Order: sequence, then structure tokens, then C-alpha cells
Amino acid sequence: MKTISYSHSAGKTEIFIQRNFPFSSFFKENVTGKSIAIADENLAGIISKTHPDFFKSFDHLITIPEGEPAKSFEEYEKLIERLVDFGADRTTTLVAVGGGVTGDLTGFAGATFMRGLSVYQVPTTLLSQIDSSIGGKTGINLKAGKNLVGAFWQPKGILIDPDFLKSLPQREVYSALGEMLKYFILNSEEEFLSFHSVLMKETADSLLNSHFDLLSEWIEKGVRYKVAIVEADEKELNVRALLNLGHTFGHAIEKYYGYNELRHGEAVSIGIWFAAWLSSEMGWLAHEKVNLVRECVLKLVPSEKPSKQWNEEVILNYLFKDKKKEGSILKYVIPETIGKCRIHPIQDLNWLSGKIREFHQTELKW
Ligand SMILES: NC(=O)c1ccc[n+]([C@@H]2O[C@H](COP(=O)([O-])OP(=O)(O)OC[C@H]3O[C@@H](n4cnc5c(N)ncnc54)[C@H](O)[C@@H]3O)[C@@H](O)[C@H]2O)c1
Ligand SMILES: [Zn+2]
Repeated sequence: MKTISYSHSAGKTEIFIQRNFPFSSFFKENVTGKSIAIADENLAGIISKTHPDFFKSFDHLITIPEGEPAKSFEEYEKLIERLVDFGADRTTTLVAVGGGVTGDLTGFAGATFMRGLSVYQVPTTLLSQIDSSIGGKTGINLKAGKNLVGAFWQPKGILIDPDFLKSLPQREVYSALGEMLKYFILNSEEEFLSFHSVLMKETADSLLNSHFDLLSEWIEKGVRYKVAIVEADEKELNVRALLNLGHTFGHAIEKYYGYNELRHGEAVSIGIWFAAWLSSEMGWLAHEKVNLVRECVLKLVPSEKPSKQWNEEVILNYLFKDKKKEGSILKYVIPETIGKCRIHPIQDLNWLSGKIREFHQTELKW
């Protein structure tokens, strides 16, 4: 078993990575009060087939709807009411079993119910294993935007069993690899080049089957990158903002197209492509490097264009409403080189709009 821990203002969180993780004995040893697992309906059905005994480790199971709509005030309220029905009190432990949606909603319920319950994260998507389960950001969405209501609430532990990924749809794997691409561009040219060469040869299917060890290695690398940044900057005051690479433009197109046409990680991949292209327009990143980034992104996003027509005005409007905007300056994460990114303030939003138009016409071509 690999154990990686990170320190934060509330103490320390341990992350365990192991195939075939011994959940039952772990929870027996580590939880004294009642334990309540929370999973989305789709995953609960899958796990009851792939791991028939899994939910027996908990006193109760609460299911929430599948997908992003579960991160809403209505579902938050329903979840809290279920906790009350089950007699949850301050000694109760919540266990989020699932992707980032379940983790964010459960974490937020844990942060707020009776002013705070213990939470464990059992991430079951690649995205949640390498990213969302780590760092204590929890929250729900408003109509005005994603994650606008939330809290920092660190889990007591994060239990990562890569074997859960075996049932993950290929599209979810590719999409999450967009966040892996982000880590490599932020941290290491060498790792980026090796990621690129694997991506050019393999498919999500071959990674899930014949090269599962490679995928497990990437999970560990992703966890370590995320931990390093969270430790350096728990509350996202400075370096953690680098994790927004690809997310400013990404969030705008994600919001515009919606989940059915574009997954979060796909939108982020395209955002990274734009950031790399923008960097070369500014004279920083070499064209060959942009080309490598483009090749990775084209592998990770579906080859068909979304059916919805590109609408520049609406997309720019979403982009400039991004919550990272301070006054009229947009803080943009841009790779100076592969392996080194910086937060670049963009004041001239007309210039940025022009660049987005150019990127759309000459690169993305949607
Ligand atoms: N808190 C953070 O720091 C942070 C960071 C990044 C993203 N997020 C949030 O994470 C969310 C996205 O997370 P996600 O991509 O994991 O989405 P998700 O939770 O919606 O899961 C995606 C789909 O995979 C299914 N699924 C989950 N595990 C599976 C498995 N093992 N086998 C088969 N199917 C499985 C789910 O039922 C769902 O249909 C977004 O809401 C985003 O805002 C949070
Ligand atoms: Zn993301």
C-alpha cells in the first residue's frame, strides 16, 4: 500500500493507494460512530455488481442522483434530511464513494451538518482519484455558476483503489487525462513528453486492460502533484491558482456546451491547448511544443464537433464572469515553457477576445 499524506490547517490527511483495498477492515478499525456511505445511483448499481460486499461496511447507504445536477441546493437539502432521518450526529462519519460530484456534495454536507462531521473520500473516477478528492475543496453550484457555494473541509482519509476504474467508461478516462496533462505541463517537460508518447500509442481501453500498471503509476503521480500544490497553498491564495491552467477558457466552454456535449476534463484540455497557443502568440512557447500539446488534446477530446453552434458572444461573456477575475484584470495561467507556468494578468480583454476568435478559427475549428 502506498501512503502519501498532506498537512493542512486542520491537521493531516492520509491518502492510501492500493488495488483491492481492504475497505471493510479499514472502516472497522477507523470509525467508531455510525458510518454513512453516499454514492450516486449509477455507481451504487455498478458497485453492487463489481464489489457485492462493499456497502456492507457501512451502517447506511444514501444514493444521490447521477451527474452534476446533484450539486444543487435541492439535493444538498435532501441529503441533509436523509442524514437527520438516519439519526446522524456529530460522531457520524460520512464516506463519499464516487466521482467529484459525490465528493463535493458529501464534503459540503460534512462541512456544514452540525458544524462538521468526519468525512472519508473513496474516489472511483480517475478525475476524483487524481484531483477532486484531494485538498478539501467542497461545494455545490448555483444557477449563476459552478462551485459558487462551498467550504474548505479536509477529509480524514482518502482511500484510492485503482481497480474501481475498471468499470469506468472510456470517455471518463480520457476526460480525466486532461487533468493529468495539466499536471505534467505545470511540473515537468520530461514527464509531459513521456505522457505524450504513451498517449500516441495507447487507448483508454488498453490503459484499463493491458497497461493498468501505467495508469496506476499516473494516479500516484497525479496524487503527488496535487498534494504538493495543496500543501504549498491550502486556501488557494497563490500557487494553488496554477491548478486553474486550462480552466478559465475551459469553464466558459463547459458551461456553454453543457455536460452532454463536453465533459469537464475535455473542456480543460481545450483550455490548456488555448493557453499553450496563447503562450506561443506571446512569444514564449515554441511552436513544436504547442503542436505536442495539440496532439495530446486531440486524442483526449471526441473527434466529432459538438452539435451546438459556437457562439462567441455567449462564451466570452461566461469567460469574463469567471470568478477568478479581479476587477477588470483576468489572471490567466500560461505555460512559459512546458514544466513552468505562471499567472499572467491580462488587462486588455479586447485583445484576449481577439485571440479567442483567432484560436477558434485557426486551431479549434468548431
Ligand atoms: N473539489 C475539487 O477540488 C474538485 C476538483 C476538480 C473537479 N471537481 C468537481 O468534480 C466533478 C466532476 O467529477 P467526475 O468527473 O468524477 O464526475 P462524476 O462524479 O459525475 O462521475 C462521472 C460519472 O462516472 C460514474 N462513475 C463513477 N465511478 C465510476 C466507476 N468506478 N465505474 C463506472 N462509472 C463510474 C458516475 O456515476 C458518473 O456518471 C465536477 O462537479 C467538478 O466541479 C472538484
Ligand atoms: Zn478541473
